[in-house]
Parts: sequence; structure tokens; C-alpha cells
Amino acid sequence: MPATVVVGAQWGDEGKGKVVDLLAERSDVVARYQGGNNAGHTIVAGDETYKLHLVPSGILYPGTLCVIGSGTVVDPAALVKELDALEERGIALDTLRLSGNAHLIMPYHIALDGASEMKLGRFSIGTTRRGIGPCYQDKAARTGIRAQDLLDTKILVAKLRIALESKNELLEVLYKQPRMDAEEIAEGLLPHAERLRPFIADTSLLVDEALRAGRRVLLEGAQGTMLDIDHGTYPFVTSSNPIAGAACSGIGLGPTRIDRVLGVSKAYTTRVGEGPFPTEIDDAAGEHMLRQGNEFGTTTGRQRRCGWLDLVALRYASRLSGFTELALTKLDVLSGLDTVRLCVAYRTKEGQELTEMPYHQTVFHSCTPVYRDMPGWNDDLTGARELEDLPAAARDYVDAIAKVVEVPITLIGTGQGRHQIIDRVEI
Ligand code: GDP
Ligand code: IMO
Ligand code: MG
Repeated sequence: MPATVVVGAQWGDEGKGKVVDLLAERSDVVARYQGGNNAGHTIVAGDETYKLHLVPSGILYPGTLCVIGSGTVVDPAALVKELDALEERGIALDTLRLSGNAHLIMPYHIALDGASEMKLGRFSIGTTRRGIGPCYQDKAARTGIRAQDLLDTKILVAKLRIALESKNELLEVLYKQPRMDAEEIAEGLLPHAERLRPFIADTSLLVDEALRAGRRVLLEGAQGTMLDIDHGTYPFVTSSNPIAGAACSGIGLGPTRIDRVLGVSKAYTTRVGEGPFPTEIDDAAGEHMLRQGNEFGTTTGRQRRCGWLDLVALRYASRLSGFTELALTKLDVLSGLDTVRLCVAYRTKEGQELTEMPYHQTVFHSCTPVYRDMPGWNDDLTGARELEDLPAAARDYVDAIAKVVEVPITLIGTGQGRHQIIDRVEI
């Protein structure tokens, strides 16, 4: 039985949590493959709202194996807090597993993230300040601390001492911040180490066993394609690869095990943090998206920037991850607009029209969108469960998107609730 990747097609917050939660009902394993607690995945189940940051969005279904893969970066304190909060609400955690190879976010990573953003001033990235970038830096520099290091305090302290040699220089000399102490950090980690110990496992093997046994596996991405460190709007990106290919390295499975890739996109676009965003709008329609869509960050509470759906970027996302299908979320939010717009091309400063993402960032930064305008609709979509329930204008809008992206749309979000969706997924 093959695996399905669920991947963000825009700048994050597309509604991946809701989509994974929906499909988790029909799956046996949900595995997060990258990112850390910069992510915020919201699930609305009945009267209950869950905001997950590190725990996979399958945890609400008892018996579902939930894996935090080796490609993620894990803040032990944040994970323990999330686990405690879930347990308090009666969610069983016995099926959660954390890869021993996942890198840990240490207090100095958080301090360095904040300090570097401050120093960048008006050139800052607008990170979530969760220490994500500095942690992935250490992973690449081979001075990182991994989940398995929590199991042996002597090794932990030795590794912390080595890491802190350069970190303390940076903190003290460059950023004028207090130095940190290896023993003190290790001592602070002890209770977290004990709490996390039972979850630490060889998660690549667990996923392989599940696939061999014919179980259904969902691979859950965080962030989105345009925040990808290789293919996104660099340097205004996160420090990992959200695209589908990264599910292989981030879990430890081969590409031949994956046969479905479900891209998730809003019916419009949002972005949190700095960086280019060609279809961004600052008008009544943008205000409508912000208010109706409640576009405030799940993790940092920041107001999300809003704009029209960018089909150039969406086609690019499909190319990078090989979407086999697309989930279009939050279509209900667009109800009440006279006109809805789709960006079908970019116009360069020289007047040339591009339907593919420009290769050079200078071109991209100065592009303006070319729109196709379509009639809007006033009907409330929140009760729609079948395609036939949609007004003709909303169906035309969805069809136009599928045609340009050349991918079938198998899920259409019609509200925040778990079952407020038009569901045509065949699993
Ligand atoms: P993620 O990071 O991709 O999981 O997305 P977030 O949870 O950060 O943000 C998406 C927000 O939109 C959440 O508050 C969801 O509850 C909400 N949402 C998801 N799908 C829909 C939908 O179809 N309609 C509406 N109105 N809200 C939705
Ligand atoms: P989910 O999984 C939206 C953005 C930050 C910033 C940039 C780099 O909920 O979709 P980082 O802290 O990762 O170094 O910040 O990436 N960002 C997100 N934006 N959704 C997310 O996750 C994000 N995770 C990071 O706002 O612009
Ligand atoms: Mg989010």
C-alpha cells in the first residue's frame, strides 16, 4: 500500500492540518517530515479547536501511529507543553513516536533567531523566532543535538559544550547577549528527556513496517512550497524543504513508496512574514479575506497578508512536488465578493507576460499580476457537501483553477469544521 504526501502549495497556512485530520480518519499512520514549532496546524472538531505545532494532525484518532520524523526540528520544551495540553484534553499519546535522529532546538537557537532578526532590522525575514533557522544551521554544520542525545546526559553535556564554544562567541560579541552554560541547559532538559524517552524510536523502520503491512500512510508537510529553502522566495523562506520530495529524506523512505501527492491551497493567498507576494492586495477584498477568513497566525498571532490566488505560483508548486490532486480550502471565505480574480500570468517591467515562475528573483520582485476576472457569488457555502451544492459561479472558479494547474481538485473546503468539505478523494 503506497504513501500519500500532503504538501502546502503556497506560503503556509493553507489548511494542511484540516486536510490531514480528514484523511487520517481513513489512514493508519501520519508522519511529519520537516519543520518544527514554527508550524501551526488548526483542527476544528465539533466544539473543540486544536492547534498543533509538532504533533502530527492524526493524533485525534486513537490508534493512529503518529510519527515526528528525522527531518523535523524539535524544541523539547515546546513538545512537552504540547503533549501535556493534549493529554489534559483526553487525547491518548500512546501511538506517538519521535525519531531519535530529529534535531533539537536548544535555548541558544531561539536566542540567536531573535538576535539575528533584530540585527537585520528592516532586512529581517519575519521568522517565527522559534529557533528554526539556527537549529537547521547546526544540523548542516554537524554540531547539532539530536533527540537520541537526550538518552545519555554525558553525551548531551559534551555536545552542548562543543556547540556553545562558537554560540557564546556569537551571543556575546556579535549580539551583546548573555552567554549560556552547557550544564545549566542539560539540567533544564532532564525532565523533558524523561518525558520524551518513551516516544523516541527508529521511526523510518516503523513507517517501513506499516507500508509493508499494507497500511495507509500520510506524510504531513509543514510550511509551504514558496517557503522552501531551495525553491521558495529566498531569502524570505524557512530553513527546510516543505516540498514533497523532502518527505523521503525527512522520514527515511524511498521515492518509489510514494504514489500520491496532495497539494493544499487556499482559494486565495496569504503570507505571514516578509518577502515578495505579487498578488497581495490592500483593499476591500483583502479586508474581506482577512476578516471572513480570520487570517491571523496560528503560531504567532500575526495578521496574515492577503491576496488573490496566484496560479503561476500554484503551477510552480505542482511542478516541484508533482501534485496528483489538489485540495482547495476556504472557498466559503470568498462568498460575498462581486468579482473574484485569478492571477494567470506575471507582467515584467519590460511588459513581457510570463506564465512560468521567473527564474531570477529580480524579475520576480518587480512583476505585476495579470488577472482573469470572474463573477463572484453571494451564497453561503458552509453547508455545501457536494459539487452540485455550489453556485455556478463558484464551480466555474474551481474549474478554472483545475484547468490552469492541470490537476484535479478532489477536496474543496467550505468551512472551518472537520466535515465542512466537498470530499472526492478516493481513499
Ligand atoms: P495549516 O498551517 O496549513 O495547517 O493551516 P492553519 O491551521 O495555520 O490555517 C488555516 C486556517 O483556516 C485554520 O484556522 C483552519 O481551521 C481554517 N480552515 C481550513 N480550511 C477551511 C475552510 O475550508 N474554510 C474555512 N472558513 N476555514 C478553513
Ligand atoms: P504552517 O505549517 C506560515 C514563515 C515565517 C517567516 C518564514 C521563516 O503553519 O503552514 P521560520 O520561523 O520558519 O524561520 O520563519 O517562514 N513561516 C510560516 N508561515 N505558516 C507556517 O507554517 C510557517 N512557518 C514559517 O512567518 O516568514
Ligand atoms: Mg499554519
